[in-house]
Amino acid sequence: MARCGCGSRRKCEEWIIAGLVEVNGQIVTQLGSQIDPGRDQVRLRGRRVEDRQPQVTVMLNKPAGYVTTSRDQFGRPDVCRLVRIPGVRLYPVGRLDYQTTGLLLLTNDGDLAHRLMHPGHRVPKVYQALLKGKVTETELNRLRRGVALDDGYRTSEAKARLLGAEGANSRVEITIFEGKNHQVRRMARAIGHPVLRLRRVAEGPLKLGRLEEGKYRILTPEEVKMLKSLN
Ligand code: URA
Repeated sequence: MARCGCGSRRKCEEWIIAGLVEVNGQIVTQLGSQIDPGRDQVRLRGRRVEDRQPQVTVMLNKPAGYVTTSRDQFGRPDVCRLVRIPGVRLYPVGRLDYQTTGLLLLTNDGDLAHRLMHPGHRVPKVYQALLKGKVTETELNRLRRGVALDDGYRTSEAKARLLGAEGANSRVEITIFEGKNHQVRRMARAIGHPVLRLRRVAEGPLKLGRLEEGKYRILTPEEVKMLKSLN
């Protein structure tokens, strides 16, 4: 709050203790509570506290070997170091596994991040996966209808199509409309064909296209508008 120009740190602490500050609709009176500026909404006396950075959303083609969390317990590099824009701090929208490549959005627009990550938002995410072994049409049908994951969760309907063979393995395109942890890998394991390689190629109306691995581009205002109008 102090960084956003609301007042001195001391004043901000007084306001927190006085119960004037809400995080995501909940009053927070604990000093030192951490928030994620890319995701959490902070209000002081009901008014939104906003960072004065310009709002920026980028699409990154994430390479393998990067995490999407900021504090990794193994000290592995995080994707934020691949997107350096002076004066702007961006946060990943959702997660991609360490070894997964492809389309990842990063933004400092808390409203956009919130909308895209809301579980009620059935934004389609398209993955191209190399699955071990030969996948049959019956197995693709199981993916389409929904499979039970290792924790018993049953996935909702998905799209799945065979793209071709790569040696003894199968290239499959899978579209999911939800975002459980490691969902595609767990779905593939559920049908007995573990993922060997995974890349996200589209999210909602956005496609990765020819963006090179490790590179990013700033979304146009029209693209941001499109994302915000998804429901
Ligand atoms: N599903 C996965 O299993 N991993 C990802 O990174 C994304 C979707």
